[in-house]
Amino acid sequence: MTNLQLNTEGKLKHFLTIEGLSKEILTEILDTAESFSELSKQQVKKVPLLRGKTIVNLFFENSTRTRTTFELAATRLSADSLSMNIATSATSKGESLLDTIHNLEAMHVDMFVVRHAISGAGHFIAQNTAAHISVINAGDGQHAHPTQAMLDMFTIRQHKHSFDQLKVAIIGDILHSRVARSQIQALNTLGTQEVRVIAPKTLLPSQVESMGVTAYNSIEKGLKDVDVIIMLRLQKERMTSALLPSEREYFKCFGLTEERLKLAKPNAIVMHPGPINRGVEIESSIADGPQSVILQQVSNGISVRMAIMSITLQNNGEAA
Ligand code: CP
Repeated sequence: MTNLQLNTEGKLKHFLTIEGLSKEILTEILDTAESFSELSKQQVKKVPLLRGKTIVNLFFENSTRTRTTFELAATRLSADSLSMNIATSATSKGESLLDTIHNLEAMHVDMFVVRHAISGAGHFIAQNTAAHISVINAGDGQHAHPTQAMLDMFTIRQHKHSFDQLKVAIIGDILHSRVARSQIQALNTLGTQEVRVIAPKTLLPSQVESMGVTAYNSIEKGLKDVDVIIMLRLQKERMTSALLPSEREYFKCFGLTEERLKLAKPNAIVMHPGPINRGVEIESSIADGPQSVILQQVSNGISVRMAIMSITLQNNGEAA
């Protein structure tokens, strides 16, 4: 599965999952994003790195942050980019995913950025598209959201500098979260001291410890002395049965409150991939408070996605 992402020299040509990628590859993405982050502070935020390249965003699921930051990242790299409107495309007339891909290929596209409700959609496209086209997974089902995980790692590194002394807690609907899966893989690959997951038993995958985490069913115990807190929303659209009594009950037992935040280290940062549900998983005053880096995560999405787009296209066959 992972080999598909790498070219013959072992370099990244697609970005589909964190699973199986080396610490060196993840660090290269973070270091490259660092240089793009400097660029975003300047008056002229554009570089000609991907001039002449054509990038198509294919979002079969809704998105605010991911789609917009991919569009901005492509613009800042001087690529030509367009976001296909799936609702008004021929998909609604029954055109298959592969036929859509092959028609776009015929328009000499260089990269697809894909979000899809089905796990493995990005892999499927990468296996079935022309060799010179790079595919970036912008979230597939419950499987992976690797660019989100990398912008989260970038934000953690900005604040905490290295991973080996860190205790990180991920709180919420781990079971349905593609973000959590990718974050856990990235945190472990980067050498994080301890990764904790905190959730009711019904929202934890079975044998979750095999993912390299310590599981807690008590938020009070799990938050003790952590450096980084990552909150997740309840993915109600993916719940096929009643896994919780009510949102009110969930907040009472697992919501991040001012009182609970005090259990973490005093300089702990609070993260959330968004969209946030105020009063369900997080108290509003924390989401907007001094320890929150939630909007910094969004800003960092541009630099990190610029890094991933430029690295994959440069490593892929015909790319400049
Ligand atoms: N974090 C995230 O994937 O947000 P969007 O669904 O708005 O892209």
